[in-house]
Amino acid sequence: MSEADSVPVGTLTCPTPDERPDLWPWSAAREGGVLRLGGGDLTAVAADFGTPTFVLDVEAMRGRARVWASAMAEEFWDGYGMNGGDAFYAGKAFLSADVARLVVAEGLGVDTASLGELTLALRAGVDPERIGLHGNNKSDEEIRLALELGIHRIFIDSMDEVRQIERIAASLGVSAPVMVRLKSGIHAGGNEYIATAHEDQKFGLSLATGQAYEAVAAIKDAAHLDFRGLHSHIGSQIFGTEAFTEAARIVVDFAARLKAELDLEVPAIDLGGGVGIAYTAQDPEPTSPVELARALAGVVRERCAHHGLPIPHVSVEPGRSIVGPAMVMLYRVGVVKDISLEGGGVRRYVAIDGGMSDNIRPVLYGAAYTATLANRDPEQALELARCRIVGKHCESGDIIIRDIDLPADIAAGDLLVVPAVGAYGYSMASNYNMATKPGVLAVEDGAARWFIRPQTVDHLLALDAGLE
Ligand code: LLP
Repeated sequence: MSEADSVPVGTLTCPTPDERPDLWPWSAAREGGVLRLGGGDLTAVAADFGTPTFVLDVEAMRGRARVWASAMAEEFWDGYGMNGGDAFYAGKAFLSADVARLVVAEGLGVDTASLGELTLALRAGVDPERIGLHGNNKSDEEIRLALELGIHRIFIDSMDEVRQIERIAASLGVSAPVMVRLKSGIHAGGNEYIATAHEDQKFGLSLATGQAYEAVAAIKDAAHLDFRGLHSHIGSQIFGTEAFTEAARIVVDFAARLKAELDLEVPAIDLGGGVGIAYTAQDPEPTSPVELARALAGVVRERCAHHGLPIPHVSVEPGRSIVGPAMVMLYRVGVVKDISLEGGGVRRYVAIDGGMSDNIRPVLYGAAYTATLANRDPEQALELARCRIVGKHCESGDIIIRDIDLPADIAAGDLLVVPAVGAYGYSMASNYNMATKPGVLAVEDGAARWFIRPQTVDHLLALDAGLE
């Protein structure tokens, strides 16, 4: 028995866009029973482009990016005695050339965390001055590319990396713009694997043990490192402002220590990403960009005044909160199977044409999702049934949604839509069972085009040397 088995059928339904607008792309609405997105029917999308397909509401993503940029610009506006604020989109959440251009057009920079993300951002035409590079184990190749192209900043994550970047910058005869990623000691986030600032995990340089201080002192003395400031990212899928403001306080207090003991100015601080989004009706309403930016501005101002420090430039790195709710997943229902439970009762297993290869989050984090039908309105159903949404992979753990109430007559051919898959859906997709990755279709004003095309079996087999 799962916990949900004690909840009556009819209570685990998907909130409509009217009920929870934060869960859906802004254009989502039902007309004549059919779910529409970006000015078109999702039934037409399925017919024209196939399933499974990630469907991105471009205007929703654009709008979400815009509010981050404007919230940071306004709350840290120099007219308010601040020193400017901005946002860098965390490309790991989901990146394509069009996405990179879209966020840049809205005034954001792009944060990258690998050679692939960095190369993509550069080839998409993003100004290197608007790119950051993260990573806890960067390769020489990644650092060299970043330095040759003159990207905005590299986030140093270890003492080894201080030496590594100094060596590469010296060999290129350049000065490397670096920020130091702090381990603030704060434990926040939706899951152990996505909390990133407590002591016992791999990211950042510890404040508690003095590593961070040592690293900054070494950077100050290094001939080819240009210290640009401090960074903190405390985790992901966080609600409220408190954990973020606590981290900001710790970062500014450390900046004061650097000023006092090393006579070093901290021109900028970056407070990372991590703002949570709603995935189901059970999740709280997310913290808005304005709410967070205002809270951060308050702490930064107060702590800087307390220490008599000039106010640094402040940036943040949202990923999930920009793209997550802007994208839905469109699956086609296949096999429906009733399974008798040991304690009595049945569980209706609804298999869709994707699964853990396009959404690993339920398996990896126990993440909960909700879903509705695109081709007919579940609210019109005569009867609902408790269903379990499973994929088509060779694992019994290949479950997308453990318990959800859908029309009892759900059958092959129905279209199932899962909202809020935009972040860490496509970007963590795999080819398990040689499944081809679905494409990402961008919809806007009734038109649709691929941001990323669907993979084909030929793409998959192209690297198999034995088939050449
Ligand atoms: N900045 C840094 C340094 C990060 O490591 C991350 C995420 C972000 C920004 C963006 O965080 P966001 O705003 O998207 O929460 N795969 C996990 C999430 C891993 C997050 C990794 N770092 C998931 O699917 O929940």
